[in-house]
Amino acid sequence: MSEETKFAEYVRGNIESAGQDAGFIGLSQVWVRECIRHNYAQNFTWLGRPIIQVPQDVYAIQELIWTCRPDIVIETGIAHGGSLILSASMLAMLDYCDALQQGVVLDPRASRRKVVGIDIDIRAHNRAGIENHPLAHKIKMIEGSSVASAVFEQVLAQSEGYERVMVFLDSNHTHEHVLAELELYAPLASKGSYCVVWDTGVEDLPPDMCSNRPWGKGDNPKTAVWEYMKRLENEGRKARDGQDLRFECDKTIEHKIMITASADGFLRRI
Ligand SMILES: C[S@@+](CC[C@H](N)C(=O)[O-])C[C@H]1O[C@@H](n2cnc3c(N)ncnc32)[C@H](O)[C@@H]1O
Repeated sequence: MSEETKFAEYVRGNIESAGQDAGFIGLSQVWVRECIRHNYAQNFTWLGRPIIQVPQDVYAIQELIWTCRPDIVIETGIAHGGSLILSASMLAMLDYCDALQQGVVLDPRASRRKVVGIDIDIRAHNRAGIENHPLAHKIKMIEGSSVASAVFEQVLAQSEGYERVMVFLDSNHTHEHVLAELELYAPLASKGSYCVVWDTGVEDLPPDMCSNRPWGKGDNPKTAVWEYMKRLENEGRKARDGQDLRFECDKTIEHKIMITASADGFLRRI
């Protein structure tokens, strides 16, 4: 066994044992609860743009994009644009590494890798901040509800011809909205890639913490994931590529990072 394989096995063991440690998982849930109470996830920027993610989830995004090598990342929920810039920066890093490996000079604007972001309300200062960012050339923004057919038509047009597709759902967090997004967007994820549903953790919060929101316990991204997984199993769905659509909840990611806003939300297409 090579040293690399030995180390990978050692890490796999760490993750497995953390995933079986109810005390550690409980502590993490307390941590996430307190982090939401303090709006902690809003304190960070990625390459200058505010991002609304806990840093551990940012780590997960880095590993997912590096491993799956998508050519397009489709994201619902833009806000200040930090998550778009994060995905764009990872796609730019893939471009850079490909150029080095192929021994060619990188022309950053020639790459077709891109991020498509959808938001019902792209505020002027956020649009300007994103459009003036050096990575703006890798980003296409669409304004409108993610589940409106005219908007989804644009997403389909933008993703036409792309085979390696990753999807992040992070807009309106009600059960109904996320379920509708899953029906539309999950079939776009390519095999081996992911459809990540953010903020499933709402299900595990004390009810008073969401009292000013349209979502809460029993009505949130996690309940939508559970319902969608049931539908896939009982009714079946086709992916955009025509194959049967199946996802597994990748628990290794959440047991690796331990602190996540998205338990049960890392859906890997199998
Ligand atoms: C949690 S923020 C997104 C955060 C961003 N992904 C990040 O990580 O920095 C949610 C965003 O979803 C948008 N939104 C709410 N309802 C929506 C809808 N029906 N369609 C698209 N976007 C929506 C809001 O305007 C808001 O900007």
